[in-house]
Amino acid sequence: MLKKKNILLKNGRVIDPINGIDSISDVLIIDGMISMLSQSIKPEYEDIEVVDVSRKIVVPGLIECHVHLREPGYEDKETIETGSRSAAKGGFTTIICEPNTNPPIDEIEAVENLMGRIKDKALVNIYTKACITKSSKGEALTDIEKLGGHSGVVAFSDDGNPVLKKGLMEKGLSLAELNKKPLSPHCEDSASLSVKDFSEAELGFSPGKIFENEANFISRDIGYARSTGCHVHFSHVSLRESIDHIRKWKGVVNITCETTPHHLLLDRSYRDISGEVPNVNPPLRSQDDVESIKKGLCEGVIDVIASDHAPHTVDDKKAGAPGVIGMETTLGLIFNELVRPGIISLKDAIIKMSTNPAKIFKIPGGSLLPGTSADVTIIDMDKEWEVDVNNFESKSRNSPFQGWKLKGQAVMTIVAGKIVMKDGVVIRHR
Ligand code: DOR
Ligand code: ZN
Repeated sequence: MLKKKNILLKNGRVIDPINGIDSISDVLIIDGMISMLSQSIKPEYEDIEVVDVSRKIVVPGLIECHVHLREPGYEDKETIETGSRSAAKGGFTTIICEPNTNPPIDEIEAVENLMGRIKDKALVNIYTKACITKSSKGEALTDIEKLGGHSGVVAFSDDGNPVLKKGLMEKGLSLAELNKKPLSPHCEDSASLSVKDFSEAELGFSPGKIFENEANFISRDIGYARSTGCHVHFSHVSLRESIDHIRKWKGVVNITCETTPHHLLLDRSYRDISGEVPNVNPPLRSQDDVESIKKGLCEGVIDVIASDHAPHTVDDKKAGAPGVIGMETTLGLIFNELVRPGIISLKDAIIKMSTNPAKIFKIPGGSLLPGTSADVTIIDMDKEWEVDVNNFESKSRNSPFQGWKLKGQAVMTIVAGKIVMKDGVVIRHR
């Protein structure tokens, strides 16, 4: 076992929203833990690496709560190793992965198998969501109570598929509530599960056109969050009407939500470098929807920015697989496109990429409080760079932002006191 080095971060601008900190300070990391935040800490500790972080931002490790790692089953797209390298490169110290693997994460054995792989291969902290229904087919519930009892499972989702039957959704929510773990539904039609095959009585709402039912699902599920008391965290919201429902019920019912950089920054008129509209689910929406998503983010209706990092091979994309990768671009995009123009504050960006995901999924992190594990991200706001998928750590290349020129990037990622990325170079410690 490699001995943990002690680290002294000198002279950074430390922003830690949950502890009300925004000041120039040193941060001392001893034996993997945050030891002290103070001005002018002297490096009088054994085996200490002093890092000058002046003119840099030091924040609680970023948390990405919607990641497809694809392992087990689709290792040609991504693996725990490449996905966690991609996270480290992007400044994320903790990620939460989706259960639509093969086999899916719908039984406790699958959770244990995944956790074993994570222990062997991960460079960052990884938790998982488990399926709401068996194989995410929407027919029978998983053993939500048992799955929710596992410490590695932090939420439930049938990612990629909506839960169409209202009865299953309501029962699923009441079971998730037993372990006080959120249920995070995907509120869109999918290629295999569409509202058109179900009646209004089964769905609990009158179905609209395919891919236009997000707000119907959200409105229905807010009702069930209310009746069951279960926390519902809506995955990647994308429509004005969805935001309007969530705005109305936030604070009354236990609901939170996330959106993605692509739904915040791109509308359906966008063409990527190959001249195509990026194929993603939910699809890119209208300019009006994009405006309402941005407004929702500023007003705090949207709690979290999460990329829905969805790696696919070139052939799978050609064959129509929806999804875009995101972990290596989220930070630069949010800083360049939203923080720099003053649409959201630096503090709000950190809240939505660290403080809130930690709180919502009840996982460690989101704080630089002394005595907690030293998960820290260091950001250079002035670093100019161009998105080039050929430099990505991810195995896949399906970014809609190829060629974008950005300012602002993570320059160091520290997980439990170990530097796993420095100046863009990912470092494995075993
Ligand atoms: O575009 C998407 N791709 N949206 C999803 O919800 C699922 C994901 C995937 O698994 O590729
Ligand atoms: Zn997803």
